[in-house]
Amino acid sequence: MQVIDSIHALRERLRDERSVVFVPTMGNLHEGHLQLMRIARARGGCLVASVFVNRLQFAPHEDFDRYPRTFEADREQLASCGVDVVFAPDEAQMYPDPQTYFVEPPPLGGQLEGEFRPGFFRGVATVVLKLFNIVRPQVAVFGKKDYQQLMIVRGMVRQLALGIEVVAAETARASDGLALSSRNAYLSASERAEAGRLYRTLQELRSRLVSGERDFAALESESVTKLTKNGWVVDYVAVRKQSDLQSPRLVDQDLVLLAAARLGKTRLIDNIEVSI
Ligand code: PAF
Repeated sequence: MQVIDSIHALRERLRDERSVVFVPTMGNLHEGHLQLMRIARARGGCLVASVFVNRLQFAPHEDFDRYPRTFEADREQLASCGVDVVFAPDEAQMYPDPQTYFVEPPPLGGQLEGEFRPGFFRGVATVVLKLFNIVRPQVAVFGKKDYQQLMIVRGMVRQLALGIEVVAAETARASDGLALSSRNAYLSASERAEAGRLYRTLQELRSRLVSGERDFAALESESVTKLTKNGWVVDYVAVRKQSDLQSPRLVDQDLVLLAAARLGKTRLIDNIEVSI
């Protein structure tokens, strides 16, 4: 496995590759990322993973500075998954000038995560497009854990005719259902013991939909109340359509239940799909 930190060297390395499969990450890898790598590896071709903590997608009050940087451990894990090339640029390489050109996401980018993290999807879409331009993959793999991010990347690829196949990977979970995330490392022992409730709340919501309940607003607000009673500060629990993440009508069948909430200082997100 080669580790490359410059755009020029990466382009040279990939120049003659006929098929490149790409998994972008911000490092601090866990089993969820490794599943993305395995899915990507199974596609054949040259597997490129990037490790870059993207300042553009963090608001000034967010955790950019304390975001865990664990490159040596990441490198070993990537090697064990059969990654061919790790692209690990520093900020000077990715943003030699202050970035003043941005990808402006559609209105969806201002909802759900975008409402609580203004500018987040602009930062994500901009770095993902830049990484796509650098790596020029045929296939890119993203996790469903970041469901809205996946939709925004898919939309960008489609509308800007990037010609990249975007593959979605299922969310990896701990034994209590907690979605694996680099931010789980911020949880104290008592918060970690509580954290599985987010997934259980979504599962209960799913069961009630499957058993025929259709008052989406009431179901959302009951879920918020349950979490709040257990010490969570909830940003949203939302029943949305899988197709466009807009509010469903009664005839819509393929739904996704999304939640974001804070336990102490740690903000967690999760989602599950349901067909009713
Ligand atoms: O999902 C992530 O880890 C990041 O948002 C991504 C896609 C690597 C862009 O920085």
